[in-house]
Amino acid sequence: MVKIGNIELGEFPLLLAPMEDVSDPPFRAVCKEGGADLMYTEFISSEGLIRDAVKSRQKLDIFEYERPIGIQLFGGEISSMVESAKIATQVNPDLIDINYGCPVKAVACRGAGAALLQDIPKMVKMTEAIVKATRLPVTVKTRLGWDEKTKNVVEAAERLQDIGIQALTVHGRTRVQMYKGSADWSLIGRIKENPRMRIPVFGNGDIDSPEKALEYRNTYGVDGIMVGRAAIGYPWIFGDIKEYFSSGTRREPPTISERVRVARKHLEFSVRWKGDRTGIFEMRRHYTNYFRAIPDFKPFRTRLVEADNLADVEAILEEVLETYREYDALKLTA
Ligand SMILES: Cc1cc2nc3c(=O)[nH]c(=O)nc-3n(C[C@H](O)[C@H](O)[C@H](O)COP(=O)(O)O)c2cc1C
Repeated sequence: MVKIGNIELGEFPLLLAPMEDVSDPPFRAVCKEGGADLMYTEFISSEGLIRDAVKSRQKLDIFEYERPIGIQLFGGEISSMVESAKIATQVNPDLIDINYGCPVKAVACRGAGAALLQDIPKMVKMTEAIVKATRLPVTVKTRLGWDEKTKNVVEAAERLQDIGIQALTVHGRTRVQMYKGSADWSLIGRIKENPRMRIPVFGNGDIDSPEKALEYRNTYGVDGIMVGRAAIGYPWIFGDIKEYFSSGTRREPPTISERVRVARKHLEFSVRWKGDRTGIFEMRRHYTNYFRAIPDFKPFRTRLVEADNLADVEAILEEVLETYREYDALKLTA
C-alpha cells in the first residue's frame, strides 16, 4: 500500500498531473471518474494568493468527491510560500504540493518553479519552512535538474525527504529541455535505488499507453505514475492502465457515445463553474482529443470550436452521436 502521510493510495497509484489551464475542477471531475487515484490543482502563484488575486483564489476550489487532492503552489520567496501554504491549508486539501519544475520563463526567471533547481540550499530551506507552516503532508514535484550538467535530483530527493516531505514526483526532463526530446527516467530509478529513500517516489513524463506504463513501472521501480498530457481529452487512460496491469490485456477503447457523454459532462461542468463564455471557450481545446481517430470528424470539430452558446454545442454533440452511432461497434483505437 502506497501512503502519503495517512492517505492511502492503493498498490500502485496513478496521479493526474497538475496542468495550468487544464487540470481545473471540470477536467478533474472526468479524470476522477476515469480512475485517477490522486489529483492536483493547477499551480497557484503564492504572490497571487497573498494579494488575493481572483484567478489564484479560484484555483483553490476543491470538492469533497475529489479527495485525495493536493493544492500546488509556486513562488520564489520563502515568506510568500509560507504565507500561501497557510492560506491553502485553510481550504483543507489532503496535501500541499510545491512546484520546483515549471520551466516557463515567466516563472523560472522570477526565481520560482524550476529556478530552485539552481539553488538546492534555498529549495531545501523553502521546503522546510513550508513543512513547518502546515499540518498537512507536503509533497514536491520537480525535474531532473536545471540542465544536462546539473542533474542533481538524486541528491535533492534525499535532502527533501530529510526535512520532511512525504512524497516526491519527478518529471524526467531538465529545465533546459522544457518539453522537448523524450523523458529519461533512469535518474528516477536511481532515486528509488537509494536505500535511504523511504517516501513514495512517482515517475512522470511521456506515459501515454498502458504498455509504456507497465514497462516503466517494471524498469524503474517507481511507487506510482503521474500522467499529464495523455489524459487531456482522454481521461480513460487511467482505467486503461489499471485494466492492463491487472489483466495483461488492453480494454476496448471508449465508444462514441461514451466519448460524447464524458465530453458533455466536462462541458457542462465548465459552463457551470466558469460561466457560459469562458466555459465554452476553454472547452474548445479538448474536442480534438475527445474525438481523436474518428473518421471525417474535422467538420464537426470546426463547428464545435466555432459555436458560442451551450445549446449549439450540445446540439452538435448530439449530431456527432447520431452520425457515428454505427461506429460504436467498430471499437475505435485512440
Ligand atoms: C499545459 C500544461 C500545463 C502544465 N502546468 C503545470 C503546473 O501547473 N504544475 C506542474 O507541476 N506541472 C505542470 N505541467 C507539467 C506536467 O505536470 C507534467 O510534468 C508534464 O506534462 C510531463 O508529463 P506528461 O508527459 O505525462 O504530460 C504542465 C504541463 C502542460 C502540458
